Amino acid sequence: MQIHSANGYLIDQFLQPCTNLRTDDYGGSLDNRLRFLKEVIEAVLSVVPAEKVWIRFSPNGAFGEMGHENSCQTFDAAIQLAAKYKLGCIEVMDGLTFGFHEKDVPYDLERVRKNVLIGNTDKENPTAVMGNVGHTLESANKEIGSGNADFISFGRPYMSNPDLPERFAQGIELASPPQYEDWWTKETEDGYTTFPRATPE
Ligand SMILES: Cc1cc2nc3c(=O)[nH]c(=O)nc-3n(C[C@H](O)[C@H](O)[C@H](O)COP(=O)(O)O)c2cc1C
Repeated sequence: MQIHSANGYLIDQFLQPCTNLRTDDYGGSLDNRLRFLKEVIEAVLSVVPAEKVWIRFSPNGAFGEMGHENSCQTFDAAIQLAAKYKLGCIEVMDGLTFGFHEKDVPYDLERVRKNVLIGNTDKENPTAVMGNVGHTLESANKEIGSGNADFISFGRPYMSNPDLPERFAQGIELASPPQYEDWWTKETEDGYTTFPRATPE
């Protein structure tokens, strides 16, 4: 299972001071803003083994009006905290093409890996790192090849290329990315699940 701590969802709202205006033990200092995340992880780990728990962060994201100065410091701490629990994987939306808040420098996968390693005392068994947002086959191979990530996940390319792995493997040119109207503004599945394959099923 994946704990959703990205894109202005509840945990993200606790993490970032742009939305967390609390004056109790869950707001104010960085430690206080991390408290809810810590409690959610520990509650999940009370019923699910750590290796089966993944978590998602969006340090660059502007969705839901998120983003703040010192964003990198907040997410360094959040990722180090999550990594201490030796979760199966930490997914970070490192790309900027799903919206970038521009309040701090972009948070990249090299930084994620460093924080995951700091959080893991057992380097034999570190938490995996997964990147997301705006990746291509080339950027994915570069991040994995340089050791910054273990996986890269794809969203929009999968929509217009339902056989994305086969196209990557066979070097088939990708279809153009889906347009905004293909996802949000139609009331039918057309354009969302109906892009054609280029390879047999
Ligand atoms: C139609 C659509 C719906 C999405 N819905 C959500 C969502 O509900 N929650 C979320 O965290 N991300 C959502 N995302 C973001 C994707 O999970 C993914 O992070 C994003 O598409 C970036 O990867 P990509 O550049 O490979 O598409 C959505 C993306 C698309 C295109």
